Parts: sequence; C-alpha cells; structure tokens
Amino acid sequence: MQSIDNQRSPTRVYRHRQALAVVVMCLSSLLPSPIAETNAPFRPKTLDDAIYKEGRYVYQRNCLTCHGVYGDGRGDMGRDIRPQPRNFGRGVFKYRSTPVGMLPTDADLERTIRGGLAGTAMPIFNNLKEHEIKSVVEYIKTFSSRWRNPTNYAPAIVLPPLPAWFNDSSLSKARAEQGVVLFNTACAACHGSDGSGAGAIVKELQDTWGQPSAPSDLRQPTLRSGATLETIYRVLLTGIDGAPMPSFATTLTEEQRWDIVAFVAQLRQGVGH
Ligand code: HEC
Ligand code: HEC
Repeated sequence: MQSIDNQRSPTRVYRHRQALAVVVMCLSSLLPSPIAETNAPFRPKTLDDAIYKEGRYVYQRNCLTCHGVYGDGRGDMGRDIRPQPRNFGRGVFKYRSTPVGMLPTDADLERTIRGGLAGTAMPIFNNLKEHEIKSVVEYIKTFSSRWRNPTNYAPAIVLPPLPAWFNDSSLSKARAEQGVVLFNTACAACHGSDGSGAGAIVKELQDTWGQPSAPSDLRQPTLRSGATLETIYRVLLTGIDGAPMPSFATTLTEEQRWDIVAFVAQLRQGVGH
C-alpha cells in the first residue's frame, strides 16, 4: 500500500512550480542576457566596459550573421560559405604582418575589416567609424584564450628596404629571370608556373579547418595580403596561417625572395605572357 505522505497533491506541485518560476524570473533579471554571457568567454578584466559594449553592438549588427553568436563562423549566413567565415575561437589568422603562428596586430585586423577580403564573402566595412572598428577588434579577441597569452603576441615584422634595382627596368628584368627558376621550384606546384593558381597539387590542398584551399591567382589586381612589392615580399616571410601557403623566412634568402617578387611583379604586369 502506498503511503499518503509520498503523494503530492496537484495544488502543491502547482504552487511549487509557480514559486520556482518567480525565483528564476528574479534571478534572470539580475543576470546579463545569455548571449552577452556566453559569447565572450575570454573577456579580459582590463577591457573597458564601454569599448566592450560598443564592440558587441557592432559585432551583433554586422558580423554575427556570418561569424556566429559564439564567433565560431557558424552564423545563419556563414554555414554554406566557402571559404568559411573565420572561427575566432581557434585564434588562427591568415593575413598578418607577424611571424608564423603569431596573432595578428590590431592594424592587421583593422585592415581586414575596413578593406574586406577580395575573392571571399568577407565584406568591406569602410562605413564603420574608426572607434567602432577598434571596439569590434577588441570584441573579436574575447572569443579565444590565445589573446590572453602574451607569448602569442609579436610585433609586425620589420621589412628590409626595397632594393634599388627595382627602379632600373633592365636590372629588375635580370633579377626576375633568377626569380622564374626559384618560382618554378618553390611556388609553381600550387600557384602554377603562370601564377594563375592552377598548380599540379591544387586538388590536394586543404586548410586547417578541413576545407579545400585554393592558391591565389597572383595576377589579380587585388591580393588579400596586399598587392605592393613590399606586401608580396612580406607574405613570403609570414606565410598564411591556416592555409597551405608556407613561410619562406628560413628556406629562401632575402635576395632570393626579392628575385621571386620581381618575377611575380612581372606576371602582374602581364609581362612574359
Ligand atoms: C557575409 C559574411 C561575412 C560577414 C558579414 C563578416 N565576415 Fe568576416 N569573414 C568572412 C569570411 C568568409 C572570412 C574568411 C575569409 C578567408 O578565409 O580568406 C572572414 C574572415 C574574417 C577575419 C579573419 C582574417 C584573417 O586574417 O584570418 C576577420 C578578422 C573578420 N572576418 C572580421 C569580421 C568582422 C569584424 C565583421 C563585422 C564587422 C565580419 N568579419 C563580417 C565572412 C564574413
Ligand atoms: C603548398 C602550396 C603553396 C605553395 C608551395 C606556395 N603557395 Fe602561395 N598560396 C597558397 C595558398 C593556398 C594561398 C591562398 C591562401 C588564402 O588566402 O587562403 C596562397 C597565397 C599566396 C599569396 C597571397 C595572395 C593573396 O591573395 O593575398 C602570395 C603573394 C603567394 N601565395 C605567393 C607565393 C609564392 C611567391 C610562393 C613560392 C615562393 C608560394 N606562394 C608558394 C599556396 C601555396
């Protein structure tokens, strides 16, 4: 036989639930909204509250649809885009002025946001104000613990001055001839010997997020890493983290890198076609 004490009357259960609901309501009005809590797990204590809130506002209005509430690149619009919107939780960035494996500088991130990334879905945000871009940069950093560790930071690489021979067309033509040989050995398997991006091993290339990774057509007017002689030289030092594009900081000499830049510059002018 069941004891009457073990049975709850329906009214008691109802009252119990009602009381619980009131407690939950009171508690949740004290807490910030769930989005604010969960999507910034690595918010540093030193981050100014006004900057954080502005950054979150700018992010939610302009970036969330692709990069997602949690910064994981899985926003409503982001899921089917290739290359995928960056997952900020990994703390891996492609377009940097810093050495391999290091976090980008604020200036690097600001350039990406203001200028967009040509050939991808990442839009140009030149309508945002200077302080809004700076705030959203701080907000993005709250998604990954890598930003909490000072050993992941490095200053921008200081580039050597542009060699004077670039100003002399016959000298730079001679250097580009050295460059072709190096390009065919070090770059053509991916970029193709014409720089079009149709190298022999393209089909095998994947990024660190498990997606196909296409070598850039080096003849395009806009390059995501920048299209000046200096920025082409720089990407040979930095590589593109997350993509198969390696750094040639130790495998080529400074002279060899400039020779290759001279050849790439020639490809970009349509010379040699
Ligand atoms: C329409 C979709 C879309 C929107 C909206 C968008 N992004 Fe992106 N974003 C992308 C894609 C796609 C990539 C990856 C491109 C690649 O891998 O080359 C990307 C990459 C990035 C990167 C990584 C750059 C690097 O060096 O790896 C940053 C930073 C970034 N976005 C910031 C933002 C910010 C801030 C906003 C809002 C102000 C924003 N994005 C809005 C699609 C978007
Ligand atoms: C293993 C394949 C591979 C090799 C080898 C390689 N690259 Fe790349 N490279 C890539 C990929 C993939 C990208 C595009 C990465 C991205 O933006 O997602 C790229 C991007 C670049 C860019 C930046 C273009 C832009 O749009 O910003 C330059 C410049 C470049 N490569 C030059 C070279 C040169 C010069 C060499 C040889 C010294 C070389 N690469 C060797 C795969 C390779």
